[in-house]
Amino acid sequence: MAPGKSRVRPHLSGESGVRPGKSGVRPDVPHTVSTEARRRSRKVGSDPTFSGSVVSKPTPWLQTLRLDLREFVPADVEDIVRLDADPRVMKYIADGRVHSREETLALFPRILRYPRLYVDLGIWRASRRDTGAFIGWFSLKYAGKSSDIEIGYRLLPDAWGLGFATEGAAAMRDYGFDDLGLGRIIGVTHPGNRASQHVLRKVGMVDEGWGRYYDTRLRLFAIESGA
Ligand SMILES: CC(C)(COP(=O)(O)OP(=O)(O)OC[C@H]1O[C@@H](n2cnc3c(N)ncnc32)[C@H](O)[C@@H]1OP(=O)(O)O)[C@@H](O)C(=O)NCCC(=O)NCCS
Repeated sequence: MAPGKSRVRPHLSGESGVRPGKSGVRPDVPHTVSTEARRRSRKVGSDPTFSGSVVSKPTPWLQTLRLDLREFVPADVEDIVRLDADPRVMKYIADGRVHSREETLALFPRILRYPRLYVDLGIWRASRRDTGAFIGWFSLKYAGKSSDIEIGYRLLPDAWGLGFATEGAAAMRDYGFDDLGLGRIIGVTHPGNRASQHVLRKVGMVDEGWGRYYDTRLRLFAIESGA
């Protein structure tokens, strides 16, 4: 694929429930954030990290009360190596296997590429605003090969139990509805992942039973715009 070209984006073309009158917003173009979205979380500007070949200090793309979210840059790879090597973190992800350093190094470029393939969607690095410490990531992206858009998150155990997952997931929900104009957002979890299911409920999602995503039968949660 030629540099700068993105794939077809049904979430921006009306095939995936885009609200009439709203268009998608590009992270690299300043845009208006609705009052409601501003109340809940604060977009803090574009990320200049990838502008041309100039690499500058990554800046937060979105802030919540306690979290900074920004795009990943190549230098962040060790954060993901650490996250995906922890068996507590990976227990309910795919087959529950941790990723070796080599596996993460091979997978990491996909995270970097995602927002360039699917404008407005992506996986954002999360850090605490008080200490600056990396805590994990939040995502708003297609659920596997489906046309459904899902909220995802993966946090280091040190950051569990503090409400960070709920705070970040709520920001993803608000971004998806208020800025992208999505009509529906889902969340899928391993049936045993009660903490994650609780997070999805806390951000207003409804249990829709079972769904098939990532070639796996998973618990499906969803929220409609305006719910
Ligand atoms: C799932 C995960 C993101 C939750 O993070 P977190 O920061 O602890 O989440 P929060 O603190 O915002 O909320 C968790 C809620 O679940 C509850 N909870 C925790 N463990 C639970 C369990 N085993 N059963 C039921 N509820 C549980 C917590 O009490 C809390 O609810 P409360 O605020 O009403 O008390 C975190 O455990 C994680 O990153 N796990 C590894 C990766 C992962 O599984 N990602 C999700 C893939 S679908």
